[in-house]
Amino acid sequence: MKRRKIALIGGGQIGSTVALMITQRELAADVVVLDLPENVNPIKGKMLDISHLCPHYDVDVNLSGTSDYADIEGADVVVITAGIARKPNMTREDLLEININIIKHVAEQVKQYAPDAFVVLTTNPVDTITHAFHKISGFPKNRVAGLSGALDTGRFAFFISQATGVSVKDVSCLVMGGHGPTMIPLTRTANVAGVPVTSMLSKDELDEVIRNTREAGTDIVNLLGTGSAYFSSASAVMEMVVSYLDDKKRIIASSTLCEGEYGIDGYFLGVPCVIGAGGVERVVEIDLDDDENAMLQKTLGVVKASVAEIKL
Ligand code: APR
Repeated sequence: MKRRKIALIGGGQIGSTVALMITQRELAADVVVLDLPENVNPIKGKMLDISHLCPHYDVDVNLSGTSDYADIEGADVVVITAGIARKPNMTREDLLEININIIKHVAEQVKQYAPDAFVVLTTNPVDTITHAFHKISGFPKNRVAGLSGALDTGRFAFFISQATGVSVKDVSCLVMGGHGPTMIPLTRTANVAGVPVTSMLSKDELDEVIRNTREAGTDIVNLLGTGSAYFSSASAVMEMVVSYLDDKKRIIASSTLCEGEYGIDGYFLGVPCVIGAGGVERVVEIDLDDDENAMLQKTLGVVKASVAEIKL
């Protein structure tokens, strides 16, 4: 079997947690973590530390830290987390000015050194940053996806499980839209082992689940005091990467370039995607009711306004 290589651009909280998770399940033979030159020693230290858990998991993974893009050459997958994260009282949009400049540089480098990779981005505001990466890199749209619904749907499922008092294993649900407070947790289609959650929870209980889902990231930022969520973000990135590498064809809501789907044209937005060996192989369309369509237009408006702010 081909030796798999995964490159992580940004070795902070999410990047290093993804490196740990890749190692624990031996998803790749080579993991290269790239960060700024001034951060490369701590990253090398973390990668050494993770290397030393290989004997405990009985896995063979070669981890390294670098600031030289030549080292990501030939990567099958690139996960981009480079950028700054939120602090309390900041929105994801507040990160745009700094993160857009970072992503411009990263996109040029990834285009040069890993032109065939499947790329997953987490850098916020993720729909706009993914849009920028796609434009600058010229990658085909199926090989560029932003982390949104995988994380938001996981949170939605967790809060449904808590509210209904049943195992999260039986929850099936979907969050669409931009990765921010206008995201759309779809209560109409959410179910627990086939039982609609609308028949298990009152309107007030559902509203509470929706609130907790939409604000989960902000609640965590406020509790942490510094930095934003990373364990769940890293797990959600792993879902997308595993579905790609193992050609699972799972339906994972992701920020993808819509070209007509859901009436959206030319914007990256969280919609249900089939992820397999072809990357984002297709978008699954479902009929939305009037309320849901109104929410979709609202969340699209936020993404459009954000994209309008960037000059590429
Ligand atoms: N090139 C490479 N790495 C960079 C660059 C760059 N130009 N600029 C910043 N970085 C690195 C930082 O040095 C840091 O190690 O990106 C890393 C970001 O890590 P954290 O600050 O810990 O942020 P993290 O929690 O991992 O989140 C990353 O994902 O969810 C989003 O909002 C979040 O935008 C943030 C991103």
